Amino acid sequence: YSSIPVQPVVQGVTTSSTTVCRTVGGLTKSQLELCYRHADVAESALMGLQLAIDECQHQFQWHRWNCSSLSTKNKNPHSSVLLQKGYRETAFAYAISAAGVAHSVARACSQGKLLECGCDPAGRRMYSQGVLSGNVPDTTTPHRTVSAASRWKWGGCSHNLHFGVEFSKLFLDTREQAGDIHSQINLHNNQAGRLAVANNMQVRCKCHGMSGSCQLKTCWKSAPDFRVVGKILKERFRQAILVDQSNLGNGTPLLYVNNKIRGTRRGKRPPKNQRGANSNNNHPNKRPRQKPRGGTSRKMKLHRKRDLTSDLLYYQRSPNFCEKDVSVDVPGTVGRRCNRTSTGGDGCASLCCGRGYNIVRQRRIERCHCRFHWCCFVECQNCTYEEWITVCK
Ligand SMILES: *[C@@H]1O[C@H](CO)[C@@H](O)[C@H](O)[C@H]1NC(C)=O
Ligand SMILES: *[C@@H]1O[C@H](CO)[C@@H](O)[C@H](O)[C@H]1NC(C)=O
Ligand SMILES: *[C@@H]1O[C@H](CO)[C@@H](O)[C@H](O)[C@H]1NC(C)=O
Repeated sequence: YSSIPVQPVVQGVTTSSTTVCRTVGGLTKSQLELCYRHADVAESALMGLQLAIDECQHQFQWHRWNCSSLSTKNKNPHSSVLLQKGYRETAFAYAISAAGVAHSVARACSQGKLLECGCDPAGRRMYSQGVLSGNVPDTTTPHRTVSAASRWKWGGCSHNLHFGVEFSKLFLDTREQAGDIHSQINLHNNQAGRLAVANNMQVRCKCHGMSGSCQLKTCWKSAPDFRVVGKILKERFRQAILVDQSNLGNGTPLLYVNNKIRGTRRGKRPPKNQRGANSNNNHPNKRPRQKPRGGTSRKMKLHRKRDLTSDLLYYQRSPNFCEKDVSVDVPGTVGRRCNRTSTGGDGCASLCCGRGYNIVRQRRIERCHCRFHWCCFVECQNCTYEEWITVCK
């Protein structure tokens, strides 16, 4: 159950599997083969891609590039021209797609939706080997850890991240067959995305025993909420590392050995009050340099071999995404809603790229005055709100 069978599954190619595999266009030959052989897993994988697109659009809703280019006609983000590029945004797109597939498959396994996988047995294996003993971090009630006195065991159903990660590799890494440095960077970013899930697995627990006593707990591993994965990758986006073009020759690029990569990482995270504006900034490359705090220790860090496995890598500076450019799927920012008073990336000054903005009256209909009826439906009225909003010229 914890590795993907190589042989075709018994049912073979059914009409439903061909349907699933045709809902998405732009799959490569090997992706299609995998899809036909493991149609139910592939269906979860495709849902994972959609999850990734939605999260990308959430994380970038106030950026000039708002991730709309990943919503391609054939529902496959990898068909987007942007993914042929080497921008920071490209790196994010690869990472979040790979993360979405791993996450979605891992969860589907544990929900019993798939024939080929079930709950991750790892927790129980560790338990029976006595690897884990003593306190379990209690993520359900953040301020309590399980006291050593109370007993706990692995139980419930852990998300099968192992299976999800393996399938994500099979399904997405197979696209990168060129073997050149660009596809190596794509593979790296895929893996960085999967690590954002794997390194942030949570332990969830449930209490048993008389109310509140929590004499016995069962605990299982759960993938983090995908919003958390999106946030982590967004931060990696902000700190992404530019791979020096001069190293992009035809040599065998062992990426993170010695100085093959020039880190462009700026200082540490800025203080909290500045961070909001910066993380909304659409000019990651033009952001004013942060003064590095504790310069000497930072220098030393740069000289040390850094572990870049979960960092995002890119090799092309991004355009400013201001104007429409169909050749890279960039819609431009005309018509985008912006915030007149904000000085951050969502502010009209930045988002509208100096073109200015229009103030328009917008009508919005929302459900309101909702009443619950026994049993069980909710009845609402429609309220119309009108408000002035600013949109980019
Ligand atoms: C992104 O921006 C485009 C215009 O630049 C707009 O049409 C689209 O609705 C936006 N998408 C999201 C998800 O906000
Ligand atoms: C616009 O930005 C300001 C300052 O950042 C903020 O206080 C305000 O809530 C924002 N308005 C909207 C509608 O997002
Ligand atoms: C509210 O609007 C929805 C569609 O926008 C409509 O289906 C529904 O009937 C409306 N409800 C009322 C109470 O008018």
